Formats: sequence, C-alpha cells, structure tokens
Amino acid sequence: MRKKIVAGNWKMNTTLEEGVQLAKEVNEALATTEGVKCDVVICVPFTHLAIINQVIDKDRLGLGAENCADHLKGAYTGEVSAPMVASTGANYVILGHSERRQYYGETPEILKTKVNLALEEGLTPIFCIGEVLEQREDGSYLDVVKAQIEESLFDLDAEQFGKIILAYEPVWAIGTGKTATDDQAQEMHAFIRKVIADKYGKEVADNTSILYGGSCKPSNAAQLFAKPDVDGGLIGGASLKCADFMGIVNAF
Ligand code: 13P
Repeated sequence: MRKKIVAGNWKMNTTLEEGVQLAKEVNEALATTEGVKCDVVICVPFTHLAIINQVIDKDRLGLGAENCADHLKGAYTGEVSAPMVASTGANYVILGHSERRQYYGETPEILKTKVNLALEEGLTPIFCIGEVLEQREDGSYLDVVKAQIEESLFDLDAEQFGKIILAYEPVWAIGTGKTATDDQAQEMHAFIRKVIADKYGKEVADNTSILYGGSCKPSNAAQLFAKPDVDGGLIGGASLKCADFMGIVNAF
C-alpha cells in the first residue's frame, strides 16, 4: 500500500549555516519522537545538499533537491544536473513546482525530460501539479490537472510511473494562507487517482502517494490527512520551523 509522506520544500530560504541547523533540528526531533507514522523528507537548496546529507540519518529523514536540469551535462552555465543531485546523496527531487513553471518557463515537455533524467539517476521525483485561481473559479481545474499529468508523465511505463510521488498544489493556496478545504483536496486527489487508474490500472493508482501542498500547517494538517486520498503534504513556509514541520508530521 502507498506510503504516507510529509516533505518540506524550503524554496530559496536559509543560508548554509541556517539550513544545516534546521536539518539537524528536524533529524533530532524525529529521533526523539515515538511512533512517527509517515516518511519524512526535506527538499533543500542545491548548495546545502552534500553537507546536510552528512548530518542527517537518512533512514529517518529523506533528502531531496528542489529542481534539476533538463540536460545530463555540458555547457549549461548555472544548471545542476540529476547526476549531480544524486551524487550528493539526495534521493528525491521536486519537479514541476508552479513557481518553476510560472517564473522559469518550465513547459510540460521540459518537465517530461527532467522526470526521465531523474528516474535514470534513481531519484524519486515529487511531481507538482495544480490549477491557478482562475481555473478553479471557471471550473476547468480537473481538466487542467489531468492535462499536466498526461503531458509530462504518461509516456512513462507502469514501472517507471510507480516511482513517482505526486503533489497537488493549487497555486491559489501556495504561500497565501488560504488552504484548500479537505473536501476540495479529496475531490482532486480522488480524481487524480482515477486518472492514474484509467491509464496504469488500479494497483498502480492505489500505490501512488498523492500529497497536498498549499498553506498546510499544524492546525489544518490532521483534517486534510484524514481524507482517504490525501497521503501527506508538501510543505513550504511551515517546513522552515522545526516545531511547525513536526506538528504536521505528527498530524498522522
Ligand atoms: P506553502 O506551504 O508555503 O503554502 O507552500 C507550499 C508549496 O509550494 C510547497 O511546495
């Protein structure tokens, strides 16, 4: 059966020193918390990966990047490839975050390439999808999310798809303090699972973890995670404080 997962997305926050400190705190909190019921992952800036990999217990706390390049190597100044990410010891990579799509022009085609390169390196993609407010309001949100999945992921075979974690992040809920209701999240997550089942069959769909992201915090996590198709969260702002992040981890 699918895993329950709480993953932090630190975005462009923390200096190296602050990041190492935060990672140590989360690692320590997990070591001293009994009965953690989910996998816990932190996705951190590239600059932090190799050092944080050395200060955390990876059996307890997974480590991921927030992006990787759409090329394997070569003359792409400033880019960081999937093999480079893997060589730091990281096991996960967030791909297709709405901030990457919106501010850096990442298209479904580019994301398809990134997913393939990440999988080839043995990285687990945490693939983000989600509609903007206008699409929520005009009722096209289900179609929008379906298309995002189809365009970037449906070239994968079932075995490859089985390695993907999905994160539904309604753009209108990211960093706004406005969370999707538990019913809105459940409607979308159940729909996503059906889209997967129609393509890859019920077993693959039932085994796919689908996380919710967007202003998830200790006060609303338990209600969201109680929904049958919500398998955890991808946490932005609240992952930057150990106590808040652990509050969400402990919501399971
Ligand atoms: P917030 O939790 O800050 O709304 O961010 C969500 C997010 O974008 C995680 O990837």
